[in-house]
Amino acid sequence: SSIPVIAIDGPSASGKGTVAQLVAQRLGYHYLDSGALYRIVALAGKQASIAWNDEAALAAMAAGLKIRFENGEILLDGQIVSEAVRSEDMSRGASEVAVHPGVRRALLDLQHDFRQAPGLVADGRDMGSVVFPDAQAKVFLTASAAVRAERRYKQLIGKGNHANLAQILADIESRDARDMQRSAAPLRQCEDAILLDTSELTIDQAVETVLQHASKTI
Ligand code: C5P
Repeated sequence: SSIPVIAIDGPSASGKGTVAQLVAQRLGYHYLDSGALYRIVALAGKQASIAWNDEAALAAMAAGLKIRFENGEILLDGQIVSEAVRSEDMSRGASEVAVHPGVRRALLDLQHDFRQAPGLVADGRDMGSVVFPDAQAKVFLTASAAVRAERRYKQLIGKGNHANLAQILADIESRDARDMQRSAAPLRQCEDAILLDTSELTIDQAVETVLQHASKTI
């Protein structure tokens, strides 16, 4: 397909979701939050009493999920699950179900369907390596673990939640380790991706950097 794709991969809480959505807005492109798909598999699995290590049952279920993204909300079987999939429990669940090749395969077609004119911004762990290897622009967006933990902490406190910075940092580090060490589509920077470390950047600066890179290759 020659429909342009900007693939933005990186570790958890790096801000890639926020940056990807803003880039999509600026270009009038579609947006794919691939992490939401793994979160939905974890949630649907829990609802159906399927264990997160039961690859065959999860893969069979994943292939038949009715998932829609509408008006900024995530729908599973017509029910809004935007908040439910964001919980810390589902963050861990997503990273556990995502280790299974069968689950990843079951979600491929669904992800490819998002590649529609005039273009797509896709964020995740394997957008540039597996799902859209021919993406016209690839970015590996990261930030130090300490900065990522602090951003997540402020987000939670800002929403009036109780939060523990040390616990958040530990959770982020264990999810990163699982994402990088798994054999199926591990998190890594593609050779043809630019590295964008946002530790010292504002969101606007990160968005501008991605737009500038994309304008050279699209
Ligand atoms: O991006 P987000 O934090 O929502 O992703 C949740 C989890 O889903 C990640 O920790 C990772 O294990 C998994 N994931 C993945 N491949 C993607 C996107 C997310 O394995 N493309």
